[in-house]
Amino acid sequence: MTTAASHAQTCLAAYDLWAATYDRIDNPLVAQAGAVLAERARWFAGARVLELGCGTGRNAAFCLEAGAAGYVGIDGSAAMLAQARRRFEDSRVAWMEADLLAGAARAGRKGARFDVVLLCLVLEHLEDVEPVIAAGAATLARGGRLIMVELHPSLHDCGIGANFTVGELELRLPSFRHTAEELVQATGRAGLRPILWVDHLPTAPALARSAKLARYVKRPVLVEVVAARD
Ligand SMILES: C[S@@+](CC[C@H](N)C(=O)[O-])C[C@H]1O[C@@H](n2cnc3c(N)ncnc32)[C@H](O)[C@@H]1O
Repeated sequence: MTTAASHAQTCLAAYDLWAATYDRIDNPLVAQAGAVLAERARWFAGARVLELGCGTGRNAAFCLEAGAAGYVGIDGSAAMLAQARRRFEDSRVAWMEADLLAGAARAGRKGARFDVVLLCLVLEHLEDVEPVIAAGAATLARGGRLIMVELHPSLHDCGIGANFTVGELELRLPSFRHTAEELVQATGRAGLRPILWVDHLPTAPALARSAKLARYVKRPVLVEVVAARD
């Protein structure tokens, strides 16, 4: 098994364990990512959305509320997806259990094209982000946008990454540092035009949702990169 495959396996096994509590814990990055997406709601109106690494389907609710025409969520963790399926029975929503690369290829088969491809709090688990960015880009319709909202590298430098506790045990998931520059360059190599890259500090709506986020006030917690297919 390659190192990347072994990281993916470790990561998915951990998410299988985390699934039952993922939506219940105070997760500051989830809160801030939700606030960032809310600022982008207009891009989701009428859009066909593909989310790579959809987890428990948290963002599907936001997409539909923003007026998305359809939503496909792909994830490799059966337990995370089970939560998503429990959350949604909606003819506009489809779930796919798959590795990110294989899933993106399947979703784009038969010429299906998406107006938004979303990667939210996923890329930290991949050492090499380029193949997934390229796979997502390949499914974008003309005028479509790839939106990435990810762990800020300065938090990674402080040892912060996805983690959770089971009983007394703290589990830390494989986590890799990625900069905006790296993501921007990967979108360029995938044939997209980078249109936005922003550091996000905690905002009032997210702080109202997450008590833990207060630890990071005045520090960037997320990096967002958006690129378009012309
Ligand atoms: C932190 S969760 C984010 C979920 C969702 N995007 C959100 O914002 O709540 C990361 C998700 O990526 C999925 N994931 C990570 N690596 C993956 C891989 N190689 N293939 C498929 N899914 C993967 C995990 O199973 C997990 O559900």
